[in-house]
Amino acid sequence: MDILIRENYDQMSVAAAGIIADLVRSKPNCVLGLATGSTPVGTYQELIRLHKEEKLDFARVKTFNLDEYLGIGIDLSLPYEKDQSYARFMWEELFKHINIKKVNFHVPDGLSSDPFKFCREYEKAIERAGGIDLQLLGIGGDGHLGFNEPGSSLYGPTHVEALTQQTLDDNFELFYQNSGIPREKMPHFAITMGIGTILKAKQNLMIASGKKKAGIVASALEGPITSQITSTALQMHPGKVTVVLDREAGANLKKIDHYQHVEALKARYFSK
Ligand code: F6R
Repeated sequence: MDILIRENYDQMSVAAAGIIADLVRSKPNCVLGLATGSTPVGTYQELIRLHKEEKLDFARVKTFNLDEYLGIGIDLSLPYEKDQSYARFMWEELFKHINIKKVNFHVPDGLSSDPFKFCREYEKAIERAGGIDLQLLGIGGDGHLGFNEPGSSLYGPTHVEALTQQTLDDNFELFYQNSGIPREKMPHFAITMGIGTILKAKQNLMIASGKKKAGIVASALEGPITSQITSTALQMHPGKVTVVLDREAGANLKKIDHYQHVEALKARYFSK
């Protein structure tokens, strides 16, 4: 696992977008796993800048989003402005600004008449696309990746998950901004890629920012592996895991000097 510490949110975002952009340049038909939430917005802004100013090309890129609230759906017959889904969030924050094709992005459909079947099909669609090359992740206040709440299987596939009170509280503001749905009607369930799905991605890229995340980031990266903090499963990823933190989110890490030493060594010996 590579843990990169940057001074602030903007630098974290630029570093994360740089990793994604390197992949898009080296594999123009790559499959990206994407996240919603407040943390990746800056990463998406930097990707948009790279598209506009440096012609970063998304024409052949496919994407799969991590999750969606159950009861919130993509209604492609509606104009996006009236859509309350995470698909709309992705459209506003990234997709409408870049040259990705509509047929190439996928967000779980929380309005599916059979969400359990939908989960199985989503997992198969990821496989048919060749698997995820890079999965972008934020981390929830309770340590979740996607919506894999405490107690969720560390090997599980895409599934329906009940949300914790903490997640409902943490996410309400952004949820309301996106959907306009009041607190009492906020869904208590979500469709989410499982930790097993996330670990199958060839590369995981987790980002976190701000002092509110410092405690849970330290538990996720340096604590014992436990389904009570599902992000600890990143420690078992057999491939590449990169974590980009701003200084505040990394503040509780015990081995921070080591991580910085490793980054400097790798830059010296392995950089292009
Ligand atoms: C969103 C997602 C969640 C968020 C997490 C952090 O698609 O999968 O796991 O990444 O809740 O959210 P923010 O970035 O708003 O702190």
